[in-house]
Formats: sequence, structure tokens, C-alpha cells
Amino acid sequence: MKMFHLPSLSTVMLYTLCLTFLVLLLVKTRREASGTLPLKQLMKPQSSPVTSWYSLGVVYPSNYTFHLNEPNKCLERTPFLVLLVITEPKDVAKRHAIRQTWGNENLVPGISILRLFLTGVHPIFGSPVQKHLEEESALYRDIIQQDFIDTYYNLTLKTLMGMEWISKFCPSATYVMKADSDIFLNVDYLMSQLLQPHLPPKKNYMTGYVKLNVVSEHDKGNKWYVPKEVYPNDTYPPYCAGPGYVLSGDLVKKILQVAQTMKVIHIEDAFMGLCLQELGIRATDSRWGLFNIHKIEYEKCTFSELVVVHHYGPEELLKIWPDLRAQKKTCHS
Ligand SMILES: *[C@@H]1O[C@H](CO)[C@@H](O)[C@H](O)[C@H]1NC(C)=O
Ligand SMILES: *[C@@H]1O[C@H](CO)[C@@H](O)[C@H](O)[C@H]1NC(C)=O
Ligand SMILES: *[C@@H]1O[C@H](CO)[C@@H](O)[C@H](O)[C@H]1NC(C)=O
Repeated sequence: MKMFHLPSLSTVMLYTLCLTFLVLLLVKTRREASGTLPLKQLMKPQSSPVTSWYSLGVVYPSNYTFHLNEPNKCLERTPFLVLLVITEPKDVAKRHAIRQTWGNENLVPGISILRLFLTGVHPIFGSPVQKHLEEESALYRDIIQQDFIDTYYNLTLKTLMGMEWISKFCPSATYVMKADSDIFLNVDYLMSQLLQPHLPPKKNYMTGYVKLNVVSEHDKGNKWYVPKEVYPNDTYPPYCAGPGYVLSGDLVKKILQVAQTMKVIHIEDAFMGLCLQELGIRATDSRWGLFNIHKIEYEKCTFSELVVVHHYGPEELLKIWPDLRAQKKTCHS
């Protein structure tokens, strides 16, 4: 009977070492080829949607139709602040948490606040998500949806849809805030520090975390890639970071108008900066620490004196909210 030749332990170790080395080398080469992008991002099939989107080279096609709409919201009242919250059709839990926390329209006594969630259409035609969304809309009457496909690359369309809605159905709103669904927002502090309802409304006003000299990506593998033909310059003009920014009602209509003469880029916040530049308006800087684009751990007194913190999901929002709203402890000594 023939015996198998068993490799010695040292041979096995040698093979393992060689293999590990090869894998590491491969990973390193791929990383270097792509700048600092992690592998996960490289593997996403992202070149096709970008190129198909940009090959259109389009100006905002403002003729999408409203699937879900609330055209009468502002016939009943003139909101001081409209919250336009970016969500996807499937984001039921996020919307639910926001309604119960910072999106509660009755949060600030005596101030009329209107909350609306913006969505496009689920990428899979006939998905049950649409039916659920319609039920949710019938129940809460706070969802606006147009018939463009809801993808990351169409994000700018979603914000523009919100502006179109304001222009058509709520032109007398005093202020508008665009908010992502993964933020913490302190509406009270926004009111007392920035909007100050007892003063005359600001004009041509936009504020948030103002980003300066952001480099525009002309490298195809990048999530923020924008072709040179669409945006030729090396940096973007100043703009307010996307997670949460505020603008005066008068500016909404102006941005919507100017947007219809420009090539849309999918980087929604940078696009708003381009619109401002075209209008010859500069974003207003906010005091350091009011708008936070990085996560900060919750602490009652800190959170009582800021406006936005990025990266708060629904569970965390629901968890911190009761403590923040509790009157028991005061923060000013
Ligand atoms: C919107 O209008 C453009 C130009 O008028 C037209 O080419 C396009 O088909 C329209 N799109 C929709 C969705 O109606
Ligand atoms: C954006 O939405 C339009 C209209 O539904 C669609 O034709 C297009 O493919 C979408 N773009 C991307 C990049 O998803
Ligand atoms: C590019 O930069 C130049 C010089 O600063 C400026 O005049 C021009 O308006 C910019 N173009 C765009 C599309 O922003």
C-alpha cells in the first residue's frame, strides 16, 4: 500500500507565509492604484451609473411629477420653518424616529414648523416598498415623492424637488432647512441663536458648516468623481455641508431658478455652492461648533447648545431624546 507523503510542518508554514505575502501585495497594489480608497468602495459597481448620469450632461429636468404630494399644507398656515428631510422610500424607522424627536412640529411653542420627508422612487419597479410608503403617507401626510429613481447619484434632484415644492406650494415660508435623516437637530437652539423669530426675516441667507476650497475629484474611481466637462475647476466655491443647512425662503426660489440653467452634479451640497456662486451670494459662516459634521458623543449640556450633529441613527435619537428634553437639570451655572 502506497503511503501519502505528508509535508513537514516547516514546509506548510513556508507555503502559508508565501500565500499571505502574495495576498498582502495584491491588496497593497490595488489600494495604491486607487489612491486611499478602501477595497469595499472599489468593488461597488459605480462607474456605470455615474457615466450614464453624466453622459446626459444635463441641466435639471424640472418636469418630474409628484407621486405623493401635500399641496395644501401651507394653505392652512404660513410656516416659519420648513424641515425638508432627505430619506429613501425604505427608511420607515428613520422617519418614525424623526417624527418623535427633532421633527416634531409642536416642539417650539408659538412657532409654526412644517416637517416633510423627501423621497424618489425605489429602484426596483413594483417593489412592495412603494405600497408601504403610500400607506405611511396616508397616515402621516408628510411625504413628498417625485418620479425619479431614488439613488445616491440622484440626491441633488431630491433637494431640488424640495425647493420646487417650496416654490410651488409654500412660497411664503420664512426659513427652510434641508436635513439628512442621520442627524441630531436642536430646533430650539436653531431658533434662539440663528433664526430669531422676533426679528425681520433675513434675505439671501444660507448657513451651516461652511466648507472652503474643497477639491473636486476628477478621478473616475472616486465616489465624488465629477467629469471635467461638467465641472472644470479644481476646487468648489464655498458651500454648506450637506447633513444640515438653513436658508431663507426668498433664496429657495432663486436657487431653483438658477439651478435650471446649470449642469447638475451629484454632490448635492457642492451643487448648492455653485448655485450660490452663480447668484453672487455667499454662505454665512456659523459660529464654530454649531453645525457638526463629525459625530460627537451625547452629553446633555453640549447638545443643548449646538444645532446639528451628524451620524445619529434612529435608535440613538430615541435614546437620547428624553434626557435632552427633561427639565430636571439646567446647563447654565
Ligand atoms: C421633460 O422635458 C424634457 C424637455 O422638455 C423632455 O425631453 C423630457 O422627456 C421630459 N421628461 C419627463 C419625465 O417628462
Ligand atoms: C435618476 O433618475 C432618473 C429618472 O428616474 C433616471 O432615469 C436615472 O437613471 C437616475 N440616475 C441615476 C444615476 O440613478
Ligand atoms: C472657475 O474658476 C474661475 C476662476 O476662479 C472662475 O472665474 C469661474 O467662474 C469658475 N468656474 C466655475 C464653473 O465655477
